[in-house]
Order: sequence, then C-alpha cells, then structure tokens
Amino acid sequence: MTSLSTDAPAKINIHLAIGPRRKDGYHGLASVFQAISLADTVTVGLDTEPGIRLDCRVDCPPERNTMYRAAALWLEAAGSRAPSGVAIQATKRIPSGAGLGGGSSDAAAVLRLLAALFPAAVPPEALAGLAAEVGSDVPFFLGGPCAAVLGRGELVRPVEPRSDYALALIHPGFPIATADAYARLDEQRPAGPGDRELAAELDGVVGSYHKDEPGLWNFRNDFYPVLSGAYPGLERAMGVLRTAGASFSAMSGSGSVLFGVFENADSAARAAMSARAVGLSAWTAFPLARLPESV
Ligand code: C5P
Repeated sequence: MTSLSTDAPAKINIHLAIGPRRKDGYHGLASVFQAISLADTVTVGLDTEPGIRLDCRVDCPPERNTMYRAAALWLEAAGSRAPSGVAIQATKRIPSGAGLGGGSSDAAAVLRLLAALFPAAVPPEALAGLAAEVGSDVPFFLGGPCAAVLGRGELVRPVEPRSDYALALIHPGFPIATADAYARLDEQRPAGPGDRELAAELDGVVGSYHKDEPGLWNFRNDFYPVLSGAYPGLERAMGVLRTAGASFSAMSGSGSVLFGVFENADSAARAAMSARAVGLSAWTAFPLARLPESV
C-alpha cells in the first residue's frame, strides 16, 4: 500500500483580536498564528476497501472528525481522479479543546498528504477552499509556519517566523469548546473592533512580534478577559507561568491552554515542572521555522 506520513503541528496565537459576530454567524478576527513543535502524526494511504477508513482515538463519530471531512471533500473534488479507498491513521499528542489547532492541523495534514500522493487529482489552488470548508483555522496549516490571519481565519498572509524563544504550555485541566467561547464573548461584550480596525492593528502586531523582545510584546487575546471570569483555573495556570518568569504569557485561541515565552529551553522546562508539581499537565515546545515535510 502506498502511504505517506507527516507531523501535524500545533499552533499558538501570539495575538488574537475578535470583531463582532457577522451575518454568517462567524466573527472577523486578526491574529498572528505561529506553528510549534508539539505535533500529531498523520499517515494517509491507499486502501483496498472503498471509502474512508479512519484509525484514531476519536471522541466523535468518524464522519464528524476533521480528518474524515477533509478527505471526503478532497475525494469529492477529485471526482473520477480519486482513488477508491483512503486509509487515515493518526497519533494524537495535541490535546483537544485546547486552542492549539490540533483538529485543524490534522485536517490540513490529510489534505497535504493527499495532494502529495495524487498531485494531479485536485488543483493546488483548490486546497485552501477545501481547508476553509473543514474549519476556520485549517487554511493556516496548509501554509505556515507563521502568518498574519484575517477574515474568519481563511485570509492567511505568511510572515517570517520567529524561532529565538522557548515555550511552556500549561493545560488548566479542562477543555473549552470554541463555539462556547464565541457565545460567551457575544454575551459579555457589546461589540468588538471592526474589520478595518482589526487589519490596521495587525500590521503593528506583526512588526512588534519580529522586532521587540518578548518582554515588550503588548499583544492580547480578546477571549481571555471573558473566559478567565468563567474559568478561574485559567488565571491559576497563568499565575504559574508568571511566577516562573515568562517574558510573555497568553491563552492560545479560545483556550484552554496557556503558553509562556521563555529565553531558553531550560527555563521553559522549569516552568512546565512547576505546573506539574501542582497537578497540571504541561509541555515544552519551540516555535517552528518551517512546516514539517511529508515522508
Ligand atoms: O470554523 P470552525 O468550525 O472551527 O468554528 C467553530 C465555531 O466557532 C463556529 O461554528 C463559530 O461558532 C465559531 N467561530 C466564529 N468565528 C470564527 C471562527 C469560529 O464565530 N472566526
């Protein structure tokens, strides 16, 4: 059986500003996405059985899984050029409901692998549209490793990654569902910044991300003030990062994972250790300078 594998990296949102709910139910956003070394591994191969076979520890019906949906959309777009059966296998390391983009990255990995296995089946320029259909964060993971992102997540402008820092990631012990986080934001905030304001602010954020020491970063996550009121565990985990000396700390996406930026791997590892000492799950990671290759 012909098959290909790739790592599907997690992301952090260095900055995440959210606009008001749009007519289509989504929210405009302005964000800097940075891919990181924590990753799932995804393998895609031809299968003798027709259809899509998904071999992964999944907590929802396979048809609702992002990898399955990505493969289904790709097969539909490939039409008669599609192989009859596709087998997908994934090893999950990125926690779900964490704001780290695990499900989105896995879906993008399936699209990248199918495109690599069958380059003539779907035009490369069609992949971004399929990715956006699976989910708002999926288009980023086709490009990466660092991007300024607008729209509902589908307008992805690659920017230089920054890789001179280390990360500690702390899981506060509970997941947060993205749709719930947006609903709470709508309930508790009268309106957010408009599209033009979001885009204008983003250029300054990208400049500062590249130029300034992390201690000077003045970025924000609009979900945090709302969610930290509802989930006191977030502030406790954030406190661990601050006490450990993080130069910058924030929540990723709609949570629940918090990340701290440290000068080197040793200080990030000490922060992760102090989180584990109080019973929290924690990881160290580093920002990626390029997306993982397929093998
Ligand atoms: O696109 P995705 O399936 O990841 O989005 C999950 C949910 O998060 C959407 O149904 C929507 O409620 C919310 N969302 C949003 N605005 C975005 C992205 C997601 O309101 N830009």
